[in-house]
Amino acid sequence: MRRKLAAGNWKMNGTGHDLSELAALARAHPDPACDILICPPATLLHRAGETTADTAIAIGAQECHAEESGAHTGDISAQMILDAGARHVILGHSERRQNHGESDEDVRAKARTAMSAGLTTIICVGETLAERDAANTLDIIGGQLSGSVPDTATGENLVIAYEPIWAIGTGRVPDPAQIGEVHGFIRSRLERRFGAGVGRSVRLLYGGSVKPDNAADIFAVPDVDGALVGGASLKAADFSPIITALEASG
Ligand code: 13P
Repeated sequence: MRRKLAAGNWKMNGTGHDLSELAALARAHPDPACDILICPPATLLHRAGETTADTAIAIGAQECHAEESGAHTGDISAQMILDAGARHVILGHSERRQNHGESDEDVRAKARTAMSAGLTTIICVGETLAERDAANTLDIIGGQLSGSVPDTATGENLVIAYEPIWAIGTGRVPDPAQIGEVHGFIRSRLERRFGAGVGRSVRLLYGGSVKPDNAADIFAVPDVDGALVGGASLKAADFSPIITALEASG
């Protein structure tokens, strides 16, 4: 049985003031029936960990470098993330792939380092609207999966987030059949590559304009084990009903 996961990606949002949202979220969900993860900006990792200590909320980073240390001004390493109190990291988000030119090979190298350090990696994949319109979605997702996921993946250290680029921050969401098609495809690719045991234990998240009012429909789709939520994870009042919808999805 895969335990469901409600993950929030704060992106480049949040200062110390916003830690009160984490505290409110923790109070609202003292004993959740799913895992809850918030990935604040790196500057808040340590304080977010302190705010959520002894609560059900886990903290993750949004990025890490492929090397363990060295002359990489501005970057953070897997060890630094662990030292700050986080146990998860998002890798290969489309905003990193687009804004920082990250390739599948880059993401795979980062994931390998993060996994060997003991972090759980959330690797993101997703197609552009042009790729979907050209009926290339599954080819694109298949290529990103085989290129970005290292051979060291297990059910514990890997989570995949399917985030169609055209659905991120736009209010547009694929219909349930479209989400189900991609999640089923990802599941079958993971089973083929890693075997049924590992392939069936990796959690698959949907991301892109998940809101309180569409969460239940998305969580009813087979092979959707949770969500990676951007804008609606910033406020406890928005994220909390999404968590409740995930708990209710059984
Ligand atoms: P939104 O929920 O704001 O569309 O962002 C999704 C996302 O990119 C999460 O990583």
